[in-house]
Amino acid sequence: MIPLSPRQLPQFPAVFEWGAATAAYQVEGAAEEDGKGPSIWDAFVRRPGAVRDGHTGATACDHYHRYAEDIALMRGLGLDAYRFSISWPRILPEGTGRIEPRGLDFYDRLVDGLLAAGISPVPTLFHWDLPQALEEGGGWLERDTAYRLAEYAGVVADRLGDRVRRWITLNEPFVHMAFGYAFGVHAPGRALLTGALPVAHHQLLGHGLAAAALRERGAERILTTNNCTPVRLLPGAGEADRAAAEAYDALHNRLFNDPLLLGRYPDLKAYGASEDLDGAVRDGDLDLISSPPLDGLGVNYYNPTWITAPGPDAGLPFDLAEPPAEPGYERTAFGWPVVPEGLTELLTGLRSRYGDALPPITITENGCSYPELDDRRRIDYLDGHVRAVAAAIEAGVDVRGYYVWSLLDNFEWAEGYHQRFGLVQVDFETQTRTPRESYAWYRDAIATQHHG
Ligand code: BGC
Repeated sequence: MIPLSPRQLPQFPAVFEWGAATAAYQVEGAAEEDGKGPSIWDAFVRRPGAVRDGHTGATACDHYHRYAEDIALMRGLGLDAYRFSISWPRILPEGTGRIEPRGLDFYDRLVDGLLAAGISPVPTLFHWDLPQALEEGGGWLERDTAYRLAEYAGVVADRLGDRVRRWITLNEPFVHMAFGYAFGVHAPGRALLTGALPVAHHQLLGHGLAAAALRERGAERILTTNNCTPVRLLPGAGEADRAAAEAYDALHNRLFNDPLLLGRYPDLKAYGASEDLDGAVRDGDLDLISSPPLDGLGVNYYNPTWITAPGPDAGLPFDLAEPPAEPGYERTAFGWPVVPEGLTELLTGLRSRYGDALPPITITENGCSYPELDDRRRIDYLDGHVRAVAAAIEAGVDVRGYYVWSLLDNFEWAEGYHQRFGLVQVDFETQTRTPRESYAWYRDAIATQHHG
């Protein structure tokens, strides 16, 4: 397919932000430098078989040392905003108490460098790299971890809050709960199935407490980022499949959006859970989570999820299905189906579900894995998804920004360096950065939006 020229993209509102995103453990490296404590990912990657080919994030993109070169790449794109995450164990090596000033110094330099390049810094506080010391105390299964997130939020806001106006508290609490605690394929590698549900509540409570700590320090806008997926059925689906899809939607989407936006949990009886998530939810928690309301919702979208009724031995009330053979979908190198219209469906669906309770949305991640330098397939993907956002805006959804995942090829969690999501290719032997065709496409698309 010939990629469409960025000149033909619809014109977005002038305030719409164009960005790119990364996360600390995936790009920084310097895992043991300047007093940084170990995170659950530093521990998990050592488990035999946990990550493909035993890859680790110990060096990753060496962004900790090469951030100035990476900011120059962002400036070359003309980005309005850069979403990165702060490594909690770089700031509080034991997760609480003792502060490591050299960790704060790094983010200070990064923020100053971004501002000097005219790029808004948008830090995420928690993108899955919990200090290992907190994991040893129970991690997110423990209520206390929520209070530790707020303590850490206060420490970073004290240092960066004079320049950082906008914060994202959590990244994809669903994926962290599901992959990290229910299925054990991500750190901390626990396989508790429905026993992981308190992890949802404790992360959300952590959001509420951290948001309060940030607001006390003058933060202007507070977001949290959820991974959202439109849930789809296969042709010929019946009653049992519909019930399974509803149960999956409750777990993936509503478990995280409902408490934040409506101040209540969805019905989770299909998972055998009581309304207070088996005692995890205490009086006042839902108020802390939902008010004051979010200033924006970060939405990460990759693809829809097809669901069927569970088989006889399933431990959960749904089964994940392959996308239907018809109409047939392109697949990324990761094997994920390419479904741009799923993003319009998702955004308009959020608007109909939450109405005026839905704050402005920023697409805080969207992207695809393709290894080649001449990555027309990524251009097609991005072009299609940017148009899908335009269609949602046209349909009345308030979307304020679009951030590509990712600026750089990086450590793709359990896949190690095998999946390449970057606008910029990274050679992990030499640390050479080479912009792909999609980098030029995005640069031109942004320039056209800025200058017409
Ligand atoms: C995560 C990223 C990840 C990306 C691609 C998102 O779930 O926030 O850290 O690299 O998807 O898998």
